[in-house]
Amino acid sequence: MIEKNEYYDVIFTDMTHDGMGVCKIDGFAVFVPNALKGESAQIKITKVNSSFAFGRLMEITSKSPFRKEPICDHFSECGGCNLMHMNYQMQLDFKKYRTKETLRKLGKIETKVHDTVGMINPYYYRNKAVIPFGEENGKMIAGLYKSRTHDIIDMKRCYIIPKITTDIVKYLKNVFIELNIDAYNEKTGEGIIRHVVVRSSHKFDDISITIVTSTPKLPRKEILLKKLINRYKRIVSVVQNYNPEKTNVILGKKSRVIYGDDFIRDEINGVYFKISHRSFYQVNPVQTEELYKKAIEYADLAQNEVIIDAYCGIGTIGLSAAKYAKIVLGVDVVPKAIADAKENAIHNDIKNAKYVVGKAEEVIKSWKNYNVDVIFIDPPRKGCDEEFLKTIVEMKIPRIVYVSCNVSTLARDLNFLQANNYEVKEVTPFDMFPQTSHIESVTKIELRK
Ligand SMILES: C[S@@+](CC[C@H](N)C(=O)[O-])C[C@H]1O[C@@H](n2cnc3c(N)ncnc32)[C@H](O)[C@@H]1O
Repeated sequence: MIEKNEYYDVIFTDMTHDGMGVCKIDGFAVFVPNALKGESAQIKITKVNSSFAFGRLMEITSKSPFRKEPICDHFSECGGCNLMHMNYQMQLDFKKYRTKETLRKLGKIETKVHDTVGMINPYYYRNKAVIPFGEENGKMIAGLYKSRTHDIIDMKRCYIIPKITTDIVKYLKNVFIELNIDAYNEKTGEGIIRHVVVRSSHKFDDISITIVTSTPKLPRKEILLKKLINRYKRIVSVVQNYNPEKTNVILGKKSRVIYGDDFIRDEINGVYFKISHRSFYQVNPVQTEELYKKAIEYADLAQNEVIIDAYCGIGTIGLSAAKYAKIVLGVDVVPKAIADAKENAIHNDIKNAKYVVGKAEEVIKSWKNYNVDVIFIDPPRKGCDEEFLKTIVEMKIPRIVYVSCNVSTLARDLNFLQANNYEVKEVTPFDMFPQTSHIESVTKIELRK
C-alpha cells in the first residue's frame, strides 16, 4: 500500500494533459509535477486518494534528453507555464499527441492530426495579462497565482507577457503604494484594487489598461492617470471597472473610461480591428494569423457562398473570410463585441457581413432559410451547446471549420457530429499558448455525401 511521505524510486511512463509525469507504484497511478516521460527519479508521496496519488520530484536519476531548465524564477511555484521544463519541440509533440489521444479516447475520432504549428520565438507572446493585486505582510504585491491557489506571487518577470506589460504592472503597484490605494483582500472584502488588465496591440503601439476596483470610486484618479500617461506614451485607453462582488469573475458589470478611448487597434492578416476592454480577442497575435489562414483554407470557400461565423467575438474570423464569401452571418452573446464587429466591418469597407447579438444556439435557428455553405465555430472552453450542433445537422451545412481551445469539449462535439453524418477530415493543433499545456486547434469537418 502506497503511503504519504514515503519515498519511492520510479520510472515515468506517461504524462497527464497538464504536463505532470505519470508513474505506477504497485499498479497505482502517481502524478508528479515537473517530471517527464522516460525519466527515472526518486519521489516523495504528498497526497493519496482512493485510486491515485500525487508526488514530489526529489531527485532525477535519469534525465530526459528533452528536458530544459526553466528560464523563469517563478516556475516551481507559479502554475502558469507548466511545460517550461520541456524543450520546445517536446512541447509541440506533446500537444499533437494529446490532441490525437483525446480525440481517440473521448470522441472515438480516428483522423489525421498534423504537427503542431509552433512559434519561432515562443516567449513574450501574450497580448493580454490579467494581474491580481493583494497584500503580503502589509506590503502590496501583484503578479500571478501560485499553482491551484489564490496566493499571489509578487511578479519579478514573466516570460510570456511583453516586458512593457510587466513594467507597467510594477510601476502601477508603486504608484498605488505611493498614493495609499490599498489592494483588495478577498477574505475580508476590504481594500480597493482587485486586478489590472493590460492589453497591447501587435501591429499598432496601442496599450489599454483596465483597473478593476471593489469601490465605485478610484481614489486620487487624476494624479494616478497623470503619472501613468506621462510615463507610458503608448497607453491609449484606461478603463475603471467596478466589481463589488465576492466572486472569481474578473470584471464587474459597470465600467467607465477614465482616459482616452475604450479600445485598442490591431490588424490580423491585413484586416483592421478595434478591440474594447470587454471583447474577447485571441491572446497570441502571431499565431492567430496562422490559425485564421488555416481556418480559411479548411473552409475551401468559393466566392459566392454563405458563411456563418458562430461565437464571432469582434468578427475576426468572418471579416478575414469576407472577401471570399457572398454573405457572412456573425453571432456573439456579448453586445459590445458585436458593436465592435459591426464597426470593424464598416472600417474595413466590408459590406457583406451581418451581425446579431445573442446565443449561437438560438440565433442559428433564425438563419435556417439561408442556404449556408460553411460554418466557422469558435466556442469558449465549454464547447458548443448540443442544441446548436443539432441545428447544424438539421440545416445539413456541408462544411464546418471548428476552432477550439479545449480538446476535451472538441472531442465531445466531434463525436456528436460524427454520429450525425459528418466526417472529421483533419485537425491542425496550433501553439497559441507556448510554455503552457493549453491547446488550440482547427478541425475540418464535412457532411457525408
Ligand atoms: C473563443 S472566443 C472566440 C471569438 C472569436 N471567434 C475570435 O477568434 O476572436 C468565444 C466567443 O464566444 C462568445 N460566446 C460565449 N458563449 C456564447 C453563446 N452561447 N453564443 C454566442 N457566443 C457565445 C464569447 O463572447 C466569445 O466572444
